[in-house]
Amino acid sequence: MYRFLIPIESAAGETRVAATPETVKKFISLGCKVTIEKDAGLLAGFKDEDYLTLGAEITSQGDASTWSNSDCLLCVQTPKTELLAKLKPESLIVGLLAPYENSSLKNSIKSRDLSAIALELLPRISRAQSADALSSQANIAGYKSVLIAAASLDRYFPMLMTAAGTVQPARVVVLGAGVAGLQAVATAKRLGAVVYVSDIRPAVKEQVESLGAKFIEPPEIESKSSEIGGYAKESSEQFLTAQREKLSQHLSEADVAICTAQVPGKKAPRLIDEEILDRMRPGSVVIDLAVAQGGNCANTMQGQTVQRKGVKLIGASNLPCTIPNHASALYARNLLALLEPMIDEGHLKLNVDDELINGSLISQKGSISARHENLISPGGEN
Ligand code: NAI
Repeated sequence: MYRFLIPIESAAGETRVAATPETVKKFISLGCKVTIEKDAGLLAGFKDEDYLTLGAEITSQGDASTWSNSDCLLCVQTPKTELLAKLKPESLIVGLLAPYENSSLKNSIKSRDLSAIALELLPRISRAQSADALSSQANIAGYKSVLIAAASLDRYFPMLMTAAGTVQPARVVVLGAGVAGLQAVATAKRLGAVVYVSDIRPAVKEQVESLGAKFIEPPEIESKSSEIGGYAKESSEQFLTAQREKLSQHLSEADVAICTAQVPGKKAPRLIDEEILDRMRPGSVVIDLAVAQGGNCANTMQGQTVQRKGVKLIGASNLPCTIPNHASALYARNLLALLEPMIDEGHLKLNVDDELINGSLISQKGSISARHENLISPGGEN
C-alpha cells in the first residue's frame, strides 16, 4: 500500500501543514496509507485526533522507521537535510522546495535517489490552477499585507464624513500586480482606500482597472517584451531608474506602499530607494513582501519593522504562516489536486508525460533533469 508521510514542518516560523483532515480522508479513500507526525497540524488548528478518526496513523517526530518506509513525503517547506537523509531511497518528495540555487536539496536528492516535485515550478496554465500553491499562498499574503498596513497606519483607510469634518481616504500604492498584488488591491479597495498600481506586464492594466484602481503606466524605454511565459522579465537598471522616477511622485503622496514585485529566480526589482523614502510622509507605511528576494524597498528587513524618519518599513515575507488554518487548507487541496489523478488502486505512479508533472519534477530517482540542473545548482556546479 502506498504510504504518505506528513511531517511536522522543521523550518523556523513555519506554522502550516501539508495535509488536512479533508485531504487525508481523500487519500485514504483512494486506498493510500497516511502517517502524520505528532502535532504536525496543531499550529494550523488540526488536532491529531482529527486525523486519527479518519484512519491516519500518528508517529513521533523524525521517527527513522516511518521516514524510511514512506513512499511520498508531503511537506510545505523542504525538511532539514538530516531528516531527508532518513527517507526511503527512490521515494518522492512534494512541496514548496525553494528550488532556486538550492545545493543542499540537490545533495539530498542525489544521496537518496529521490524524486522531487517543486510546486514553484508548476506551469501557470489554466489546468494547473487547482494545484497552484504559489497562487493560493500569495493570495493570503496580499490580503494580510493590507490588514497589517491598515493596523499600522496613523490614518483611517476609508473616507469618512463625521461631525468633526471629512476624512480623506488613504492612498495606497501597490507595486507589482501578480496574485498577491491583485489581492492587495481588492482588499485595500474593500477597506475604502484609493489605490494606484505599478506593474510592467501590459495585461495587468485591465485587471487593475476592473478592480477600481488606477494603473501607473511603466516607462517607455524597453521595446522588447516585459514578460516571458506570463512572468515578468528582469528589467534593466536604466528601466528601473526611469520607473523609480515615475513612482516617486505617487509615493510622496502615498500613505501606504505594498511591495509585491518579483521576477522568479532573480533579485526583486528595487522600486523604492532612499531618495523616494525621504519624500514619503512620516507616518506612512511600506510593507515589503519581496524582502526575502532582496526587497522592493531600501532598508526593509525580513520579519522586522524598521522606523526610518517616521516611515514604517515592514519586511513581511511569511504572511501565509500568519493565517495557517486557511493557508494549510488551500495548500493541502493544491497537493491533492496535483496528485489525485496519478493515484490508481492505492498506488501513485508519476505521469511524467503530464505537462504539470513534467514542468515541476526536478528529479526522478536521483536524476536531475538538465532543465533544472542550473536552477538548483549555484553557478551550475555538479
Ligand atoms: P510574481 O510574484 O512573480 O510577481 C509579482 C508581480 O511583480 C508580477 O505581476 C510582475 O509582473 C511584477 N513585476 C516584476 N517586475 C516589476 C517591476 N519592475 N515593476 C512593477 N512590477 C513588477 O507573480 P505571480 O503572482 O506569481 O504571477 C505571475 C504570473 O502568473 C502572472 O501573469 C499571473 O497572472 C500568472 N498566473 C497564472 C495562473 C494560471 O493561469 N494558472 C495562476 C496564477 C498566476
